[in-house]
Amino acid sequence: MTALVTGAGGAIGTAVAERLAHDGHAVVAVDIDENGAADTCRRIQEAGGTALTIACDLRDEEQIAAAFATTADACGSLDVLVNNAAVFPSGPFIDVSLADLDDTIRVNQRAYFLCAQHAARSMMVSHGGSIVNVASIVWHGGWANMSPYVATKGAIVAMTRALATELGQYEIRVNAIAPGAFPTAAERAQHPDLEEYQARILESQALKRRGTFEELAAAVSFLAGPESSFVTGQTLNVDGGWIMS
Ligand SMILES: NC(=O)c1ccc[n+]([C@@H]2O[C@H](COP(=O)([O-])OP(=O)(O)OC[C@H]3O[C@@H](n4cnc5c(N)ncnc54)[C@H](O)[C@@H]3O)[C@@H](O)[C@H]2O)c1
Repeated sequence: MTALVTGAGGAIGTAVAERLAHDGHAVVAVDIDENGAADTCRRIQEAGGTALTIACDLRDEEQIAAAFATTADACGSLDVLVNNAAVFPSGPFIDVSLADLDDTIRVNQRAYFLCAQHAARSMMVSHGGSIVNVASIVWHGGWANMSPYVATKGAIVAMTRALATELGQYEIRVNAIAPGAFPTAAERAQHPDLEEYQARILESQALKRRGTFEELAAAVSFLAGPESSFVTGQTLNVDGGWIMS
């Protein structure tokens, strides 16, 4: 079994890649940050798993095509795709530059679409597979000062449903997870008053503790694997009960 994870050098991508390797997948770790992806692969290999690093700028469709061609050469068919890589520009809507808007759409939405197309072509031949898109709860709440990010995350939820409808006939399932706020290095950099920020998060969540990357990876593992074999088109909020709908 082979799983390709985009953004595998990042905080959540690392945990997801390690969990899928633990589940028995050969993991293809794709990231523009080659060193980050290689670190993830090293950790998987040290734990006895199989992993391959592919450096790829997901804004470029030719690099995406090349990543999937390399995966096919090295691993054969693809069983799982986790669309996870994203960028997070912040600032008031009124000041968003065209460059930031385009960049966010290219990484957070266009690349998810193109990677899903490549994955689906492989999965259609092998008669099945699972695509998991990493969205965010921000689309639900319409959070301020991150409008391109929020818009792309909402698009991912809609795209998940559309692809699930079209690809179900090939036994390809398409689901999403929507994480709440997880304790990343970026969070520490963006919020100098971490205590106040954490208190706000805990007030919003039903569970009064921060989630772990392992808990997030477990949700991806469930949607990627056979235990969710009759689940498709769904978005699972993994947010400690922040959003309830
Ligand atoms: N951290 C959170 O609390 C949180 C909350 C909700 C949703 N999410 C989602 O989880 C996913 C992972 O977020 P994270 O917190 O691990 O962020 P991160 O910044 O640690 O990881 C993102 C990864 O994407 C890669 N990337 C960015 N642009 C790329 C490009 N052009 N080509 C290839 N790779 C590129 C980065 O190099 C990085 O390794 C994202 O989709 C994000 O929207 C995170």
